[in-house]
Amino acid sequence: MKAIPRGDYGVDAPYVLYGLAAAAIASVTGSLIAFIVFKSPQPVLAAMAVIFALAALSYLYTTRRGKFAIWTELLESLAMRGDERLLDVGCGRGAVLMLAAKHLPEGHAVGVDLWSTKDQSGNSEQHALQNAKLEGVEERVELHTADMRRLPFPDGSFDVVTSSLAIHNIGNARGREQALAEILRVLKPRGTALIVDIGHTAAYERYLAAQPGTTVERRRLGWKFWYGGPHVASALITVRRSGTVD
Ligand SMILES: C[S@@+](CC[C@H](N)C(=O)[O-])C[C@H]1O[C@@H](n2cnc3c(N)ncnc32)[C@H](O)[C@@H]1O
Repeated sequence: MKAIPRGDYGVDAPYVLYGLAAAAIASVTGSLIAFIVFKSPQPVLAAMAVIFALAALSYLYTTRRGKFAIWTELLESLAMRGDERLLDVGCGRGAVLMLAAKHLPEGHAVGVDLWSTKDQSGNSEQHALQNAKLEGVEERVELHTADMRRLPFPDGSFDVVTSSLAIHNIGNARGREQALAEILRVLKPRGTALIVDIGHTAAYERYLAAQPGTTVERRRLGWKFWYGGPHVASALITVRRSGTVD
């Protein structure tokens, strides 16, 4: 399936990208001024300019293309029948939600978010709905405004739960565990959750593996999901719930 989106999904945590771009421009300017004043190359400033520029490019690539390529592979690997109910936690403008909806011609893709524009540029329910229309999936997409620590759904109501770069936005470990507990609560027995995040993923793995009836795996996702370099690499947690379906 094609990974290039038709909708517009903004930029994740845009202030980080602006900071990296500003640091690259400042280093280039500083090294040029220093060259003019001291009449000799400034290798440290030049190296900083290259590092910040590469970090900004990596960030821009991941947020606009890389995450779509990786989520396309992850969703394909689930081999869904097409009639499942899927929940995307912290869906934002719908990057993962719309890709998922394309796998669900007879199913339903539900997104939950608080629409923080600090966490994603132009973030709003309106933009997510617009993207659902642009991707041709609006009839099977449903959006809810809710906090992921208190999901407004009954126990065991989703076959699949996804979450991309969302849980780390909760500022404390207790809140992040509440979000993980909610994901497990709304997941059906024999359901699968795919959670991608930067940071805290070892703690997610420990918490989820300690819950009854779960099988948990964690792996890094590679350069296409780096937010600026290998020091901000994303990891995938796959959680499978055991149990019998009614
Ligand atoms: C970096 S964006 C990622 C959005 C989307 N998953 C994607 O990959 O494009 C993080 C999202 O998490 C949402 N978010 C942050 N805290 C939340 C909370 N407590 N409950 C629900 N959503 C939250 C933000 O509003 C934002 O849309």
